Amino acid sequence: MDAPAVLLLCFLWAPAPALADAANGKARNCADMRSFYSGKGFAIAGIPNTEISGEHLRICPQGYTCCTSEMEESLSNLSRREFEGRVKESGRALQGSLYALYRSFDGYFVELLNASQRSLQDSYREAHGTLFAQNARVFQDLYDELRRYYRGARLNLEEALNEFWARLMERLFRAANLQYTLGDEYLDCAAKQMETLRPFGDAPHDLHLRATRTFVAARSLVQGLTIAGEVVRKVSQVPLSLECNRAIMKLMYCPHCRGVSFKPCANYCRNVMKGCLANQADLHTEWQNLLDTMMQVVNSFNSADSGLDVVLYSIPRQISEGIINMQENMETFSTKVFQACGNPRVAGTGSTVPEEPRKRGGPVSENKPSPTNRARLEKVVSDMSSKLRERQQYWVTLPTMLCGDKVAAPAASEDRCWNGMTRGRYLPQLMGDGLASQINNPEVEIDITKPDMTIRQQIMQLKVMTNRLKNAFNGNDVDFQDASDDVSGSGSGMYAEESPPRGGTRAVTRTDRPKLYAYQPDNKKVTTGTGSHASPSSSLLFLSVAALLFRR
Ligand SMILES: *[C@@H]1O[C@H](CO)[C@@H](O)[C@H](O)[C@H]1NC(C)=O
Ligand SMILES: *[C@@H]1O[C@H](CO)[C@@H](O)[C@H](O)[C@H]1NC(C)=O
Repeated sequence: MDAPAVLLLCFLWAPAPALADAANGKARNCADMRSFYSGKGFAIAGIPNTEISGEHLRICPQGYTCCTSEMEESLSNLSRREFEGRVKESGRALQGSLYALYRSFDGYFVELLNASQRSLQDSYREAHGTLFAQNARVFQDLYDELRRYYRGARLNLEEALNEFWARLMERLFRAANLQYTLGDEYLDCAAKQMETLRPFGDAPHDLHLRATRTFVAARSLVQGLTIAGEVVRKVSQVPLSLECNRAIMKLMYCPHCRGVSFKPCANYCRNVMKGCLANQADLHTEWQNLLDTMMQVVNSFNSADSGLDVVLYSIPRQISEGIINMQENMETFSTKVFQACGNPRVAGTGSTVPEEPRKRGGPVSENKPSPTNRARLEKVVSDMSSKLRERQQYWVTLPTMLCGDKVAAPAASEDRCWNGMTRGRYLPQLMGDGLASQINNPEVEIDITKPDMTIRQQIMQLKVMTNRLKNAFNGNDVDFQDASDDVSGSGSGMYAEESPPRGGTRAVTRTDRPKLYAYQPDNKKVTTGTGSHASPSSSLLFLSVAALLFRR
């Protein structure tokens, strides 16, 4: 066609009603399609000038069309990429908000833990003077272990606490008996007497009860947030089936091929999305359970007498009470140890040093959480609760979200929308949520007997995590080894593990644990040098959690 002819055509077409229906038999001009198609980044070569008969169309309703087979395929591919992109983007926003919750909780918790440690150091230095310098390392190690535990390290909290008391006992015992030479073996023997002699009184038991509950809960919460983020990431990447690709193409781009410049009807859009996201919607129940359980755990953190802040601030006091108890009963304890382990050798000449002068200035001053601290905790808790609550419906509201105003026609124009065939009202019913409800989905043919395996696995992950949190909520430490095995089953280690499991430290269920004071010298070799587990800086761990939450 030469230039004047094109001009002439344009002239002839200009006055014609732009919306002349193809059904009228008049072939319309494809200029709109051209600009639309090139706007999507495709080459316009090959686009017909006017509508052609559409027998070649495989997805779109046949009839006059501006789309060639190749255009139909390109648009179909585009619709898939766009749909998958939007599902991922929406998942990323959710991951991002879970990550923000993690950050805010983690920031608070670590600060609290640091404040607790500082308070122990400060008040201990004040109350016990020189003894502090000798024991500073023991305290440091305790807090390091608590931090590692919170971060998900595979260590047994009870054993870590027992280890702490045993080492503290050794230091105090040695300091009180400087006139003797006390070798490692002797001290091991002394440590074995702790269970019966209870030099620290009730303090170890009390500390264990409160701290375990809190640390197990805090750690499980962080794990819950991480697992939730991982599930979102994996599920948001599930590729579109062929059937769904067709349905999405028909929904999004067939109106263009058909020359109908209307958005799809809202219910039509939702039925397509409900069909294509049916497996995802099956996450709903377990997702809701997990978020519910996380909310329970979070809400328990600001209880008046066993809140996170109260418990963390009480650690120094309980330790101090234990120390005072031991110092008060040192003579009896020493005598009994001498009876059980034999009289130690007197140290060489001149080294008979008087007992450490005991400064008993009363218990270490009680450090109560300040009102500002409480307010911050309350904010962390209420933010987390409300954000989690908002996200509980995510999987069943996703189809509607994806059919927002940008995509689908508003309800008001239910007669003026693309219904899959032409411009007009969409009559079929709105489908329910989940795979089983798609049996009569008019838009997507789905085999409801074949659930998506990736998504089933993620549903299992949610279940496992919920159980773990429930256990944590009830104060039970769960076997971390098993827990991380569950998780790695899905192809990802959950937390960076900074050290291999220690011999004999593999977490065991509560009932067959060693008793509070069961002291295992075998372990000592490994555990005494806590400092030698060169643990990567917490920022590294932090980054790895961050990386998990943000993986795409
Ligand atoms: C559409 O995608 C399929 C599968 O990825 C590919 O083989 C085909 O070449 C694509 N077609 C067009 C026209 O881009
Ligand atoms: C808390 O203490 C640890 C170890 O002492 C330190 O690495 C970290 O930076 C501290 N964090 C905050 C927020 O104070």
